[in-house]
Amino acid sequence: MPRFIALIPAAGSGARMGNQLPKQYLSLAGKPMIYHAVHTLCSSSHISSVFVILAPDDHEWLRYDWSSFSDKLVVRYCGGATRADSVLNGLKAMQSEVSICNDDWVLVHDAARPCLSVAQVDQLIDVLTPDEVGGLLAIPVADTLKRADPNHRAMGTASREGLWQAQTPQMFRLGVLMDALNKVDSTRITDDASAIEALGLYPRLVLSDAYNFKVTYPQDLALAELILQKRETR
Ligand code: CTP
Ligand code: MG
Repeated sequence: MPRFIALIPAAGSGARMGNQLPKQYLSLAGKPMIYHAVHTLCSSSHISSVFVILAPDDHEWLRYDWSSFSDKLVVRYCGGATRADSVLNGLKAMQSEVSICNDDWVLVHDAARPCLSVAQVDQLIDVLTPDEVGGLLAIPVADTLKRADPNHRAMGTASREGLWQAQTPQMFRLGVLMDALNKVDSTRITDDASAIEALGLYPRLVLSDAYNFKVTYPQDLALAELILQKRETR
């Protein structure tokens, strides 16, 4: 039986957040942001290990107590210059573990998506385990789309038909994802599915919700905090 292993790339600097502290460590609902993704992925009974990929010079991780996750958590300081490089280095670290093989499924999840729920993880796994290719959580685009000129004037309206916003986790087999990421220009892609698509494969889009958004700009923090607080009080 193939296993399910989570990989959290967390080696970014959070430039768009504009804070000196990398955004994955900003305080959110009383914890560093990355805690929430670690907690959710470790809580899924399907997932056997959770790899966290940090920047080689990360000094923040060890400031927190992660001992309650020690049965599943594996931490590696091998992040790269781009997200794709961090994921690829993380996959290589996985491959060097004797217990992990190329047919195992990897769920790559951004440290910056703290509002992922265990139900979403389990649904993704249920839907994609029988799938040939794998896939990702995503939501159909809801807003009207404008094409802008350099002066921010609308030149036209693009059809949103068939357009989805990609989220994470993105779930693919370890060997296929490594092969895909080895072949692409890592500076040109912002998710794992793009590399799979470049192989000529068609990742499945699994319907998610807007709560699983990526915390990118300062105003996103308050929204994520509200979502997490609401969940706690339920
Ligand atoms: N990431 C990574 N290694 C990189 C760049 C990004 O592991 N070299 C991770 C981030 O830590 C984050 C995820 O990839 O968990 C999604 O990236 P993004 O939201 O773009 O985060 P940052 O790159 O840190 O932010 P920014 O693009 O604003 O600098
Ligand atoms: Mg980035």
